[in-house]
Amino acid sequence: MMPIKAHGRVVLFGEHAVVYGRRALAVAIPESMVLSSLKQSAKGIEVFVKPWGLHAHYKSPGPVGKALQILSTFFSGEMGFEAVATSLIPASAGLGSSAAFATVLVRALALVRGAQPDDDEVRSKVQAIEKVFHGNPSGLDGALASAGGVCLFKRVDPRGPGVFERLPLDPPPLVVGFSGRSRSTITMVESVARLRSEDLSGVEADFDEIERCLEEGLQAWLRGDFATMGRAMTANHEVLRGLGASTPELDSMVEAALGAGALGAKLTGGGGGGCVVALAPGKVDEVISAWHEAGFWMFVKKIGCK
Ligand code: MEV
Repeated sequence: MMPIKAHGRVVLFGEHAVVYGRRALAVAIPESMVLSSLKQSAKGIEVFVKPWGLHAHYKSPGPVGKALQILSTFFSGEMGFEAVATSLIPASAGLGSSAAFATVLVRALALVRGAQPDDDEVRSKVQAIEKVFHGNPSGLDGALASAGGVCLFKRVDPRGPGVFERLPLDPPPLVVGFSGRSRSTITMVESVARLRSEDLSGVEADFDEIERCLEEGLQAWLRGDFATMGRAMTANHEVLRGLGASTPELDSMVEAALGAGALGAKLTGGGGGGCVVALAPGKVDEVISAWHEAGFWMFVKKIGCK
C-alpha cells in the first residue's frame, strides 16, 4: 500500500480575510499526518490518532464522530476501516491539522472502497468534513493538505473548495512555535463574522489591508527581500490583532521573535491561541531560545531551514 499522508500548513498572509474572498499565502508543514496502519472493517469506521489521544468511531458523540459519519457516506459501498494515524503537529493549534486528518481519512476510504478520486474530488470531500470542525472553512487548509509546497489560495464560491496556484518557491527560513493555548477555529471565524456584521466597511478595509500585506510580502519574497517580507508579516499580525484574533501570549511571542532578530512574525491560523510563525533567516535558533526563555516551550518546528 502507498503510504497515505497529508500536510499541515502555516499561513504567512491572509487568514480570516480568505474566508471573505481575499487571497491567502501558505506554506505546508510536510507530511504532518501519516496513516501507520489501515485495515478494512465491516464494522464501520474507527480511527486512532495516538499523539492527540484520539479514538473515535463513526457512531461516537461529538465532532469527530460526526465527521466520520459524513465520511461514511462518500464513495459507493459499505466497507469501512480501522486506521491508526500519527500526527507531527498538535491538534487545535492553528496548523491545519483537521484538514490533514480529513484528507487522510478520505484517501483511506477511497482505497478500501476501490474509488479513485482526483485531488479536486478529495478537496471537495475534505471541505464537507471541515465544515464540522471549522463551520465556514475557506478551503485553504484542504488545498495545502493535499498539494503541499507553497500555495496562493482564493475562495471563489462559498460552496466550493476554492482555487489555488502552487508557487515554484522553496519555503523561506521559518520557525513556528505553539503558545500552549489551544483554540477553536469555529469560535474565531464566528467572532470575526460578528465584528464584520457590526462594522462591514471597517472590517472589509482591514481585509483589504491584509491583502495589501500579502501582495507586498509576496513581491518582496520573489525578489529575495526578506526584510520587507518580514515587515509585511508583522503588519498582517497587527491587523489580525485589531480584529481580536491575537492573545497576550501570541503578542509576547511575536515581540520575543522580533527581539531575537526575526525579520517578521505573526500569529498563524484562526488565532485566539495557537501558534506564531517567524521569518528568521540566520536567527531561527535565537528565536527558539527567546521563546523558551519567555516560557513557550511546548512545540516548535523549523521549516525551510538548512
Ligand atoms: C485557516 O484555517 C484560518 C482561517 O482563515 C479559516 C479558514 O480559512 O477556513 C481563519
